[in-house]
Amino acid sequence: MNPDVKQRINQLRQQIDQHNHRYYVLDDPEIPDAEYDRLMRALQDLEAQYPESITPESPTQRVGAEPLSAFTQVEHRAPMLSLNNVFNENEFADFDRRIRERLSGESVRYSVEPKLDGLAISLRYEQGRFIQAATRGDGQQGEDVTQNVRTIAALPLRLLGDDWPEILEARGEIFMPKNGFERLNQKQRDLGEKTFANPRNAAAGSLRQLDPRITATRPLALFCYGVGEVIGHEMADTHSGNMALLKNWGLPISPELKILSSVADCQAYFEVIGAKRDALAYDIDGVVFKIDRIAQQHQLGSVARAPRWAIAQKFPAQEELTQIEAIEFQVGRTGALTPVARLQPVFVGGATVSNATLHNMDEVERKDIRVGDVVVIRRAGDVIPEVVRSLPQNRAANAPKILMPSHCPVCGSAVIRPAGEAVARCSGGLSCAAQRKEAIKHFASRKAMDIEGLGDKLIEQLVDLDLVHSPADLYQLPADTLASLERMGAKSADNLIAALGKSKQTTLGRFLYALGILGIGETMAAHLATELGSLEAIQNLRLRDLIEIKPSQAKNLQKALQTAVTSDQPLNKTPPPDTLKWCQTAHLQMLAERFSTLDELLNASPEQVANQPRLKIEGVGHVLAEKLVTFFQQPHNREVIDRLLALGIQWPAPTNAATEAKLAGLTFVLTGKLQQPRDQYKQQLIALGAKVTGSISKQTDYLVAGEAAGSKLGKAQELGVKIIDEAGLTVMLNV
Ligand code: IVH
Repeated sequence: MNPDVKQRINQLRQQIDQHNHRYYVLDDPEIPDAEYDRLMRALQDLEAQYPESITPESPTQRVGAEPLSAFTQVEHRAPMLSLNNVFNENEFADFDRRIRERLSGESVRYSVEPKLDGLAISLRYEQGRFIQAATRGDGQQGEDVTQNVRTIAALPLRLLGDDWPEILEARGEIFMPKNGFERLNQKQRDLGEKTFANPRNAAAGSLRQLDPRITATRPLALFCYGVGEVIGHEMADTHSGNMALLKNWGLPISPELKILSSVADCQAYFEVIGAKRDALAYDIDGVVFKIDRIAQQHQLGSVARAPRWAIAQKFPAQEELTQIEAIEFQVGRTGALTPVARLQPVFVGGATVSNATLHNMDEVERKDIRVGDVVVIRRAGDVIPEVVRSLPQNRAANAPKILMPSHCPVCGSAVIRPAGEAVARCSGGLSCAAQRKEAIKHFASRKAMDIEGLGDKLIEQLVDLDLVHSPADLYQLPADTLASLERMGAKSADNLIAALGKSKQTTLGRFLYALGILGIGETMAAHLATELGSLEAIQNLRLRDLIEIKPSQAKNLQKALQTAVTSDQPLNKTPPPDTLKWCQTAHLQMLAERFSTLDELLNASPEQVANQPRLKIEGVGHVLAEKLVTFFQQPHNREVIDRLLALGIQWPAPTNAATEAKLAGLTFVLTGKLQQPRDQYKQQLIALGAKVTGSISKQTDYLVAGEAAGSKLGKAQELGVKIIDEAGLTVMLNV
C-alpha cells in the first residue's frame, strides 16, 4: 500500500474517532452529520480498495463478527460488586455517621452521580485497544458480550492519547436513552414484533442478541462509573480523579458528577436530580454516593457483595401493581372519549393514585386491558398516571373485553370514531354537558379570556343548572343568580361580574384560542392573529387559500380518482384515494370549492387542478386548515362569536403589529430552568411579535437557555443558533 494512502486512512480514522468522541462523549459535535457521513464513506471506500489495511479498531469495524451460537463465560479479575440501598434522608444520614465513625472522624467527601437504570458492564482495554466486554453476571463470572458492545457508538475502540495503562478495565452502565427506546418500540410495533416494557429491558434484550448486527441497530449508550483491574499506570488517589482519567482517555462518564461533603449537600443534590429526572434523556432510579478518597475506600472495604464505601439512595418507585376496579369513559372539551381506569388506590411515584388514563381504545386493545386485571401503574413526576401493561395470568377466562360505548355516557348522543382515527368522539357538540363544561373552562382559562374567579366547580354548577349554554351566556348572568350559587355570595358575585367585564378587553390571539378550535393552541392562535391581523380575515379563510396541490400531484390525483370512484358522486363526499398518501379529505373539500362535480375535475387539465395557495402560514397544513375552515363554517359557532362581539368583547385594532413589533420575524425557543415562569416570557415575546416554538431548527433565531439546559442547547450549538441566557432575554424584552 502506498504510504500516502496509508497516511490518509490513518488520518480519516483519527478524525472519525475524534468526532465520535465529541459527539457521544463530550456532547459537543463540531461538524454536521452529513460531513461525518462523508468521512466515514471515504474511509469505507479506501478500506474496500485496500482490505489489508483493515484493523479491528477501525471505526468501520463496529459490526465485525458473525452471529454467535452462545455467549462464553468470563471470569472477573476483581468481583463486580453491587450496592446497598437507602430510601430516605435519615437512612443516608445513618450511613454517613457510620462511615465517619469507621474513619475515626476523618473528613469525608463524596463523589456523587445519578444511578443509571441499565446493565453493569466491564470493559477491558489492552495497549489502549478495546478487547473485551463482559456483563456482571453473578459478580464473579459474566458473559462475553464484546461483539455487541463494540457496536455502541459512544464506546471508543481505541483510547485517546498515548498515556494509558497497559491494561485498563473500566466499569460502567449500558442503557438505552428514552427517545431511542420510544423509537425502537414504535419500530417493533410497525413490524408486528414484541415491544419492550421499559428502556432497561430493551437495553438488556439488545445486549443479549447473538447477532451483533441487530445490536448495532439498537440505540445503546454508556457511562463509566468505576475502574476494575489496572496494570501499568498510576491512577488517581480519588474516585473523581479516576473518572477524569477515564474521560481523558475518551470514555463517557456522567455529566452530572459532583463532589460534595455534607449530608445536607448530598440531599440537596438528590432533590435536584429528582426534579430533573423526567427531563434527563435516560432513566435513572436514584443517586449513588461514593467516598471519593481511594485510601478511605480501602480502609472501609466491603461486606458480602457490596462495598461499605458507597451507597445508593433510591427514588420512590415509579411503577407499582394494582387492580382495575372499573373502566369509565371521560368526555373532554372536543368530545373525545377517554377510557379511564378506576383503581384500587396505590402509592406510586410519591403519591396515591386511584385513576389512570388508558389514552384511547387502540391502547386498550393493544395492551389487552380488562376490568379486574392486575396492572402496572406508572406515575412519573408531573406526568398523569397511566396503565403501562396488564398481567392477565390470573384473569377469569370469561372477563369481557372493554368496548367503546355507542352513546355518550353524559348526553346520550351517538359516539363516532372516524375511520383511521384513534379517538372516538361524542357527536353532541355543545349540547353535551361534558363538552360544554370543558369548553367553558377552556374559554375562561388563564391563557384564554383569563376570567378570574370563574373556577371549574362554579362552571360545573352553571352548566348543570342550565344557566350557561355557551361562553356568551357568561356575560349575561345576573348578579343575584350568581350570588345564589353554592359557595358564592353577593361579594363574590360582584367580583366575578367585574372580572367578566375586565376580560372583555382582550387580544385577538387570546380570543381565537378561547374559542377552542381543535388543533389551535395558544401559540398558533397568536401566530394566526399576527399573520392575518383581523378576525374577519380568519373567519373568511377558504381551504383554497391554504392548501397546495402541485401540478405533478394533480395529475396523479386525477388518475387515482378516475379508477377509484364513480362519477355521479359529489366531490365533497368522495373519499380520498388510498393510493395517494398525501391526499386527505381536506384536499377534496378544497377541490369541491372549485369544481362542482367529479367529472368537471376529471376533465380539467392538471394545471387547472393544481392549486397555489394565496397564503402560506407556517405551521398550517391541510389538517389544521380543514379544522379552522370547518369551525368558522358552522352557523352555531358564528352565532356565538357574533354574540360575544355584541356583548363588548374587543381587542386593539391591528397596528400592523406584525411589522412594527420590535421582535417581529424572530423565532425563540426557551429551555432549561428560568427564574420567571416560562409562560410569562412566552406571552411577552408573542406580544412583541416574536414566535415561540418548542424545538430547535434552522429557523430558530434565539435559544434562551436557563439552568441545566439539555439537548436543545447541543442542537442549537450544532445549528449555529444564537444562544442567550435569561438576563439577555430580559434585555431584549425591555430595550
Ligand atoms: S457504582 C461497587 N455507580 O447499580 C460499586 N453503580 O445496584 C459499583 N449502577 O451493579 C457500582 N449507576 O450496575 C455505580 N453511577 C453508578 C451506577 C451504578 C448504576 C448500577 C450498577 C450496579 C448496581 C448496583
